[in-house]
Amino acid sequence: MKIVVLTGAGISAESGIATFRDSDGLWEGYDPMEVATPEAFEADPALVHRFYDERRRALEAAQPNAAHLALARLEAAIGDDLYLVTQNVDDLHERAGSARVHHMHGELRSAWCTACDDRHVWHDPLGHEPACPSCEGSHLRPDIVWFGEVPYGMEVIEAALHEADLFVAIGTSAVVYPAAAFVHWARGRTLELNLDESAASEDFTQSRRGPATELVPAWVDEVLAGLPRD
Ligand code: OAD
Ligand code: ZN
Repeated sequence: MKIVVLTGAGISAESGIATFRDSDGLWEGYDPMEVATPEAFEADPALVHRFYDERRRALEAAQPNAAHLALARLEAAIGDDLYLVTQNVDDLHERAGSARVHHMHGELRSAWCTACDDRHVWHDPLGHEPACPSCEGSHLRPDIVWFGEVPYGMEVIEAALHEADLFVAIGTSAVVYPAAAFVHWARGRTLELNLDESAASEDFTQSRRGPATELVPAWVDEVLAGLPRD
């Protein structure tokens, strides 16, 4: 059975990373349009760097939770039959043990040089405009897909969705496109796991409500129980 899993901010909520839309409309005190667009970066790079430097720093205190661990367990069991796509820019899937994670919205722990186009694993701040290790220019930006930019690897995701027997969306509000449309691109069964109703709940074959740390391990147990044993 081929499975595509899409995760959103809800899977990392119980690891202490704030979601985007569950609080007061602000995003850790910032207006998303003032920090998450190419225009914002052009107008005020220091502000945008400060925001992402804070997010990158906050990652140090966060740990993967039972939901991330369950998806790593699923990958260990079914390998390439699982295609894991995340909208999250944290690295909690990797730290839980998932080896193949498609970060469609980029990664906090990656810096992208707009001068030479190289990407570098990056754990430190970018606000002081450090030199790019490849070209030594000072043109590193967070390797994050901002509003108005095209998510990474869309063709691969679309192909995986067409092939999948099951598409599962975990902890995503389904308001940001194109991820919000994946349920329509999927040709197999679809399942939503979310604390609350999302904008797309009615489009799924089945929708379950609850915290990711409970729903995801339970669902993975179900999948593994249904696999033929040798
Ligand atoms: P949102 O913040 O929009 O939605 C979070 C979802 O998680 C909501 O549907 C909640 O009901 C659900 N949720 C919250 N806590 C949960 C829990 N403990 N267990 C299960 N579900 C829970 O986050 P996303 O849908 O991921 O883009 O947002 C999509 C994109 O919008 C992000 O990737 C980001 C933002 O702009 C970029 O950074 C490019
Ligand atoms: Zn460079």
